[in-house]
Amino acid sequence: MKKLFSLALALSLGATVFAQEKKDLTLNIVPLPQHVQINNGSFKINASTNIAFDSEEDKKVAVLFQDFLKSNYNLDLPLAKSAKSNSIYFSSKNAKKGNTEAYELNITADKVIVGGKAAGLFYGMQSLIQLLPVDKKASLEIQQASIQDEPRFAYRGLHLDVGRHFFPVEFIKKYIDILSSYKLNTFHWHLTEDQGWRIEIKSHPKLTQIGGQRKQTLLGNYKTDGDYDNTPYGGFYTQEQVKEVVAYATSKYVTVIPEIEMPGHALAALSAYPELGCGDNPGPYTAAQTWGVFDDVFCAGKEETFKLLEDVIDEVIPLFPSEYIHIGGDECPKTKWKTCPHCQKRIKDNNLKDEHELQSYFIQRMEKYINSKGKRIIGWDEILEGGLAPNATVMSWRGDQGAIDAANQGHDVIITANSYGLYFDHKQGPDQNREPLSIGGLSTLNSVYSSDPMPSKISEANKKHVLGVQANIWTEYIGSSNKVEFTLLPRVLALSEIAWTQPEKKNWKNFSEQRAARQLAKLDQTSTFYRVPEVYGIKDTTIYASEYTIENLKPSVEGAKIFYTLDNYDPSELDLEYTGPVKITVPNSKERIFKAVVVTPSGKRSNYIRVNIINTKK
Ligand code: ACM
Ligand code: ZN
Repeated sequence: MKKLFSLALALSLGATVFAQEKKDLTLNIVPLPQHVQINNGSFKINASTNIAFDSEEDKKVAVLFQDFLKSNYNLDLPLAKSAKSNSIYFSSKNAKKGNTEAYELNITADKVIVGGKAAGLFYGMQSLIQLLPVDKKASLEIQQASIQDEPRFAYRGLHLDVGRHFFPVEFIKKYIDILSSYKLNTFHWHLTEDQGWRIEIKSHPKLTQIGGQRKQTLLGNYKTDGDYDNTPYGGFYTQEQVKEVVAYATSKYVTVIPEIEMPGHALAALSAYPELGCGDNPGPYTAAQTWGVFDDVFCAGKEETFKLLEDVIDEVIPLFPSEYIHIGGDECPKTKWKTCPHCQKRIKDNNLKDEHELQSYFIQRMEKYINSKGKRIIGWDEILEGGLAPNATVMSWRGDQGAIDAANQGHDVIITANSYGLYFDHKQGPDQNREPLSIGGLSTLNSVYSSDPMPSKISEANKKHVLGVQANIWTEYIGSSNKVEFTLLPRVLALSEIAWTQPEKKNWKNFSEQRAARQLAKLDQTSTFYRVPEVYGIKDTTIYASEYTIENLKPSVEGAKIFYTLDNYDPSELDLEYTGPVKITVPNSKERIFKAVVVTPSGKRSNYIRVNIINTKK
C-alpha cells in the first residue's frame, strides 16, 4: 500500500514537472514580463490580418509594427481604423491609469490586443515582436497568452562615449533601436571629452573646428604599448543631426540626455579656447591622443569659463527635450587649480575651504544656471565632493558610496557602477587572450544578470531615490560600430532584465539557456554583431581522473552547434560536432584537453571552454 502510494505520488510529481517544462511560462521574452498566463492554441498572422489602432498616437506604434513585419517577414499588412476579426489591435482606449510604461498583451484565436499608452503601447509591441518565430519562413503563429507588464525602474539607461571614438548618426539611430527593443528608455550621449568635442556650438565654432579633431591616436594598449597611428581623427554632430537623432529617439520613446563635461575632461575644449585654462599664460593645448585623466581642466577662477559654458548650455538646451542635462563632474584633478592665481582668488573671495569646495562652487553655479532655464542636472558621483548641488541627481559609478550618500541627502541616484557589471567597456570573459583588446576589468553576462542594482545599504525609506540603472560604453578601445555592438550584446539583454523585471523573478538558467539564446538566434539573422556566449554546461576546469564524460552541453544561441577538440587545438566548425555525451579515457600519466566552442547558424564563434582531464596514475 505504501509502495503503491509512493509510486502514484512519483507519477503525479513526474507529470507536474513534465507539464511545467512543456509549458514555457516566459514566452522567451526579454526582459521577463511581470505576469504571463499561457493559454491553449495560437493566433495565426496571415495575409488577411489587419493592424488596427485607436488614436493617432496609437497609429504610430501600429505603423512601427507594420514596418517591422514588412522588413523582417516580407509581409505587408493593411492598417485599419477599428479592430474587426483577425486583427492585431494597438489600443490606448482601456489603458490603465498610472504607469505610462505599463502594457497588456492579450492573444486569443481571433485577435491580438496590445493595450497601453504611448511608451507602454510601444513596449507591448516589442513583446509581441519577440513572440514571432525565429524562422522567417515558418508560419507566423503566436501562442495564446495574456501578459500584464510594467517596469521595476523608471530610469533604464545606456550610455555611449562618442568623444574617444566618433560614431555616425546612422549608427546612433541603430543603437537607439537596439536599446529600445529591450525596453530601455534613456540614451546618455557623452558628447565632450579630452579626445574630442563632438557637438556643434554655433557661438563658439572652434569647439568642433579645432576641438573636434586630434592629431593621432594611441595604438594598442595604454599600459603596455606606446605607439601612435600618425593619422588625424575627428568628427562632430551638427545641430541639425542632433535634432534628427533626438526626433528619432522620441519616436522610439527614448529620452536623450546630453553630457557636456566640466570642469575636467576638457582638453579638446581647451585646445580650441586655451585662454580658459589655468594661469596667466595658459596653453597651448591639444586634444588628447591617448587615454587617462589629464591635469589640464577648465579654470574655475575665470569668468570667461562660465561665459563659454553658459553659451554652450544655451545652445544645448533647445536641442534636447530631456528634463536633465548631464554636466560630468568626474575625474577633475585639482593640480592646476592649486597654483592658479585666478582659482585661488575665487577660493578666497568665496570663503571656500579648498579646491574640492571650488569644484562644488563650479557645479553649483552651473546647476543654478541650468535650473534657471527649467532643466535639472545629473553629475557623476564626484559632484558630492565639497557639497552637493541642491537639486542634482547623482550617477553613482565608483561603487555604492556615492549612491548611499546622495540618497541620504535626499537626492535621486542612478546606479552605473561596475560592481554591478555596468561598465560594458570591461572585458566579457576572464581570459584577455580570448577577448578583443579592452580596457580590462571584467563584466560578464552573468555578472550583469546576477546583480540587483538596489544598493543594500540604502535605507528602506531612501530606496525611492534610486531612479534606476544604466550601463556605460566608454570607447577608448572601441573604434568601430561593429565593436560597439559586440560590446553591447548580449549584456544589454541582462541590463534590460535587471532594470525591468522584479529581482525575485530572475532565473539565470532560463535567461541564458532559453530566452537570451532565442533572442540571439534572432540577432544572428541580422547584420548586428554580438558576442556569442561560451557553451553552457561546462566551465574552465581541471579534473583528475582516468575517465570522464562530458555531457549536458547546451549552445548559447538557439539553433547553434557545438564543436570540440581533444588535442588542445582551438576548436571550430572543422572539428567534431558534439551531439551527446563524450566519454574521454586518459591513459596513465597522460592528460587530455577537451575544448568546446559554439558556432551559430551565421558562422559566429564563441570563445572556447577548456576541460583538462589528468590521469595521475603511473
Ligand atoms: C567615469 O567612468 N569616469 C564616470
Ligand atoms: Zn584657474
